[in-house]
Amino acid sequence: MSIAPEREHIAPDNLKAVDLLKVAPSSMQITGGKVTIGGVDLLDIARDYGTALFVYDEQHIRRQLREYVRQFASCYPQSHIVYAAKAFCSVAMDHIVAEEGCLVDVASGGELAFAKAASFPMDRVLSQGNNKTPREIAECVDAGVRCFVVDTHEELERISAYALENGKVQPVVLRICPGIEADTHAYIQTANEDSKFGFNIRNGAAEEATKLALSLEGVELVGYHCHIGSQIFELKSYVEAIGTMFAYMNYIRTEYGFVAKNLDLGGGLGIAYTIYDSPSTIAQLAQAIAGAVHDNCAHYDYPYPDLYVEPGRSIVANAGITLYTVGSVKENPGICTYVAVDGGMTDNIRTALYGSKYEAFVVNRADEPRSIICDVVGKHCESGDVIVKNRSLQKCKPGDIICVLGTGAYCNEMASNYNKQVRPGIVMVSNGEVREIVRRETYEDLLRREVL
Ligand SMILES: Cc1ncc(COP(=O)(O)O)c(C=O)c1O
Repeated sequence: MSIAPEREHIAPDNLKAVDLLKVAPSSMQITGGKVTIGGVDLLDIARDYGTALFVYDEQHIRRQLREYVRQFASCYPQSHIVYAAKAFCSVAMDHIVAEEGCLVDVASGGELAFAKAASFPMDRVLSQGNNKTPREIAECVDAGVRCFVVDTHEELERISAYALENGKVQPVVLRICPGIEADTHAYIQTANEDSKFGFNIRNGAAEEATKLALSLEGVELVGYHCHIGSQIFELKSYVEAIGTMFAYMNYIRTEYGFVAKNLDLGGGLGIAYTIYDSPSTIAQLAQAIAGAVHDNCAHYDYPYPDLYVEPGRSIVANAGITLYTVGSVKENPGICTYVAVDGGMTDNIRTALYGSKYEAFVVNRADEPRSIICDVVGKHCESGDVIVKNRSLQKCKPGDIICVLGTGAYCNEMASNYNKQVRPGIVMVSNGEVREIVRRETYEDLLRREVL
């Protein structure tokens, strides 16, 4: 008896590449079967840089950052846009974030090292993570980051001790778990009661942490943080979280006289991975958040805090694509066609991890209709090694180039070397020019850590 889930039998949608632009980088153009991003032909990029390859549209990234800055500034002037580097971290990306005047949130010593390599202004860096190591704490304090987002009592004590030893007082905000079940995949819900992240309000941990932070000499408590999850479509989850945060902040003010200067509401805005997805816009997010903060400040007569938001996915996901070369096509009559490419779960684990859906097309057949249903599968030793599951694609042959859309967030960052696969290169495209920002890994890179 098979334990594999039943495959849903669906009809091909017969769409062409041009029908998928909703989820493509904003500069993608398709004319006469030729597909360009930033004015450069994707087939030329695949030929010159090889596959598997991530391609980013620089203008799309800058446009998203500017839209966040503009929309939040117009609804709530005291707002700060913090790019969550975990979505896609590279030195080139940090340069762009710095140039656009935004902050960056680093979730590890590694991400901090990248920010340093980009000469990112350290007073625009936030340090995140639910279990920062003593070394990471020291690196962030030494670097002079603006603020730590603190998840545990142990971390508070470690930051305070290290800052004091070094003659500093480190600003911190406490990550609060407001007990919200955001409408998204369980693996990317981060603020429900049963979560490893932050201090729960309901069991008193948040209040204890506040008391501790106020008592420690090496830290200055400047406010609170919450991040309800990722790939969120329902803005009411933010409004609910803000209401809970203000009720808690008002209670703390009454009991301890502490008024939060900063309120950080994390990231999480969802994006369209398929043409059927309809996420909220950045403008709608800004209005929902600013509206709820205004309402709560009025309700509790609470001073307006500085507002921080930490978008990751909504900055880079649709800016990026992955190009692959088809190696083989296996027909399994009555069941499925498997199109195998030169990458897989090592450069995109999201399908295996969350059942994520993607749109894909064959670049050299962009003007043909997507007339077959197939799985685009990888080259790794797992049946779960699927990049695009049970979706429409142009009929294709070995040697064809496939473009998977919407892979700019959490794909390269979650990449692995399973099967000792070398990780793809990354190029950035803008104004008719391509520049390599991360070179393809080599066997020498893989062997470098071996003790021979
Ligand atoms: C604390 C925190 N902030 C921001 C983000 C970015 O979220 P997103 O990429 O959904 O915008 C995350 C992602 O998990 C996070 O954990």
